[in-house]
Amino acid sequence: MIITIKIGGSLADKETGGLVEDVKKLIKEHKLVIVHGGGPQINKISRKLGKEPTIVKSPSGFKSRFTDKETMDITIMAMAGKVNKNIVALLRKNQIPAIGLTGLDGRTIIAERKDKIVAVENGKKRILRGDYSGKIKEVNGALLKLIIDNGYLPVVAPIGISLENEPVNLDGDRAAAHIAKAVNADVFVSLTDVPGLIIDGKLVRNISRHEAEEVLEKVEGGMRKKIFAALEALSLGIKTVIICSGLEKNPISSALELKVGTIIK
Ligand SMILES: Nc1ncnc2c1ncn2[C@@H]1O[C@H](COP(=O)(O)OP(=O)(O)OP(=O)(O)O)[C@@H](O)[C@H]1O
Ligand SMILES: [Mg+2]
Repeated sequence: MIITIKIGGSLADKETGGLVEDVKKLIKEHKLVIVHGGGPQINKISRKLGKEPTIVKSPSGFKSRFTDKETMDITIMAMAGKVNKNIVALLRKNQIPAIGLTGLDGRTIIAERKDKIVAVENGKKRILRGDYSGKIKEVNGALLKLIIDNGYLPVVAPIGISLENEPVNLDGDRAAAHIAKAVNADVFVSLTDVPGLIIDGKLVRNISRHEAEEVLEKVEGGMRKKIFAALEALSLGIKTVIICSGLEKNPISSALELKVGTIIK
């Protein structure tokens, strides 16, 4: 099987349930691609540099980071630097042959720079210019395939390359969805710090595409974008998307056995 795994930035500094051991076991039998997030880490480094992060809400209710040039530089430092290399080092410590890269490298994730974004504040719309977030156009799977076909494990930071060859900020789950398609993944597992999609205090175990579209309105925060990315993965042809906790024992294997998490088909 080809498996795309997203590791949430929400899991940093938390005790994962043997995530690395699980990867070590799975890579013996399957081809894996890891994509990571890092929202909290960007915020932390940004604040240390004296810059308060700006999170905006779009008219359709999605929260995202306003990424001006300085924030883009900080994003590169945090994502392509600290987060990515620490994951590679951790995997390497466990004899897993990881290669860290961003979507800039090898022009792997091509995304259109948005430049202008619309933010809603107190019911009023405001246009913000100078943004460096990207809308993914295409993932060039060739480099990723070359890496996985030769027994290595790519660890991808969600930074894309614009049509003008600038770095652009991407959502990790959406990048993972497009990467899953580009490597023909059978399944996309998104590991986060909650057991899955929670509605009315209960974990949703199985949800159809149609039902997920219907509940989207009710879901808040990072989970909203995660469900949106899951739907995007399905529409790109990925058969199964699983959102589950990375804090449980053998998180990926349990997800593949459909024992945990929210399964979206
Ligand atoms: N209905 C919901 N069900 C589950 N989680 C929800 C819900 N509504 C909001 N959330 C929040 O969504 C969060 C998960 O998304 P978040 O984007 O924060 O994490 P991540 O994707 O793992 O990290 P990163 O975006 O940094 O990679 C949970 O920690 C939870 O607080
Ligand atoms: Mg997220």
